[in-house]
Amino acid sequence: MNADGAAPHIELAGVSRTYLQGSVEEVRALQALDLEFAPGAFVSVEGPSGCGKTTLLNLLGLLDAPTEGEVRWNGRSVGALSDRERARLRLRGVGFIFQRFYLLPTLTARENVELPMRALGVPRAERARRASELLSEVGLSGRERAFPHQLSGGEEQRVAVARAVANQPGLLLADEPTGELDSAHAQGILDLVERVRRARSATLILVTHNPEVAARADRHLTMRDGKVVRDTRGA
Ligand SMILES: Nc1ncnc2c1ncn2[C@@H]1O[C@H](COP(=O)(O)OP(=O)(O)OP(=O)(O)O)[C@@H](O)[C@H]1O
Ligand SMILES: [Mg+2]
Repeated sequence: MNADGAAPHIELAGVSRTYLQGSVEEVRALQALDLEFAPGAFVSVEGPSGCGKTTLLNLLGLLDAPTEGEVRWNGRSVGALSDRERARLRLRGVGFIFQRFYLLPTLTARENVELPMRALGVPRAERARRASELLSEVGLSGRERAFPHQLSGGEEQRVAVARAVANQPGLLLADEPTGELDSAHAQGILDLVERVRRARSATLILVTHNPEVAARADRHLTMRDGKVVRDTRGA
């Protein structure tokens, strides 16, 4: 399996995800999706709360597995990989920018950004240099030693973006990444994410309710009740 960080060709074939709520009630979060994402695509995803957007990102990012159907990376079913192979692919190949940013509270901003590089064995000096560069790109130079509780919500989110792109992944998944930010910072975050995408020719799949943000994508998916009800191309 290709885990060198190049943008993957991703396919979903007949993918459903059902959650069991209690022991009997089922929530059908995704229903029989057939989708293909070309390497380097910039795709926006919108749709009402509960329609399955986060569930879709979790499957694409190998954090979760479908209850039916297959997710394929470069033609290979990721369900056939060992846990170890899948973890490695996720670490090297996927950058997540979540609604909640999950910085580790006991690590400084720079240490948080270094974390995924550490997991890949990037040497200390190289890690520190790249983390500083990334933090300055998101407008946080000088705050490298701050702990998450000493940062504003928007600043924490920018650290999280720097961390997500630290390993230069081929697939970037963003779940409403600009929701908490004012428009200047939202633009800054998107500029950064797009710059990384272009530099690596990475694929970017972005959940957003913001029409200005969605307008930057070159393909637009609209979801409802676990299905894609609209799939249009062009800005
Ligand atoms: N772990 C879970 N257990 C049970 N049901 C879940 C779980 N996660 C999500 N769901 C349900 O699956 C459906 C899709 O959820 P999902 O989080 O994908 O929606 P979403 O489109 O991301 O919504 P939002 O815009 O509010 O973030 C919802 O009905 C939700 O309640
Ligand atoms: Mg969601």
